[in-house]
Amino acid sequence: MAAELSPIDQAKFVAARRSVDFVEDGMKLGLGTGSTAAWMVRCLAERVRDEGLQVTCVATSARTADLARGVGLKVVGLDETRWLDLTIDGADEFDQNLNLIKGGGAALLQEKIVATASDRMIVIADAAKEVAQLGAYPLPVEVIPFGWQTTKALIEETLYSLDVMARDVALRMAKDVPLITDEGHYILDLNLKRIGNPRQLALVLNQIPGVVENGLFIDICDVVVIGHGDGRVTVRDINSGKVETGSVDITESRNIFADLD
Ligand code: 5RP
Repeated sequence: MAAELSPIDQAKFVAARRSVDFVEDGMKLGLGTGSTAAWMVRCLAERVRDEGLQVTCVATSARTADLARGVGLKVVGLDETRWLDLTIDGADEFDQNLNLIKGGGAALLQEKIVATASDRMIVIADAAKEVAQLGAYPLPVEVIPFGWQTTKALIEETLYSLDVMARDVALRMAKDVPLITDEGHYILDLNLKRIGNPRQLALVLNQIPGVVENGLFIDICDVVVIGHGDGRVTVRDINSGKVETGSVDITESRNIFADLD
């Protein structure tokens, strides 16, 4: 199975595998959503099984909660833990300041609440997610279904006064109906091509009635673990400025792949 992974999936896997080295016994953990986060959940479960770690997890989506419970992790609600030691999650883009675009998997609202409730957030990503400037990936914005067309028009109007390169806003669909998030909302994807001032955009979007939250994560992420298709991993810590490189041997995780066969 490991041999069948594409270079991108290998990169996601090695980032995920390296990130769970940051987990310590007794920790309260936030579990992200997406394909990279799914690898992380499996790698975490392997460490819990092999080393007998006691960890309590809060998931950022129903699908992550299902996966985590399925691989034997203890999952509780955020109201039970209130605060978390560490959240590990994927991202759609990250820049040199570790500001992020998230929400490609439609889980940005719970992801932002959980990451903000954590002492530390680690992002796991393949190297292609690093950008000089955010915005090539469409920015997801979670909105209330009531009056969503009015909210969309207000967002479009607001974008005209902001430093972005394009201003195309689209309702995210699931086949031929609007996609509904875990919290019962819609997602508008803002195709902006380049975001000149992500901090300002994040603040302004959240002032619009009908907007619940946007997918810009500003000053939330502490560490990025970047995976490469050849097994190399780079760990960059924004607070200490440290950059560390290493590699992950995929063959050591054959139990994870055996589970998937
Ligand atoms: C979900 C997210 C994901 O973290 C993001 O979309 C990355 O996904 P993947 O790891 O599958 O590339 O923000 O809302």
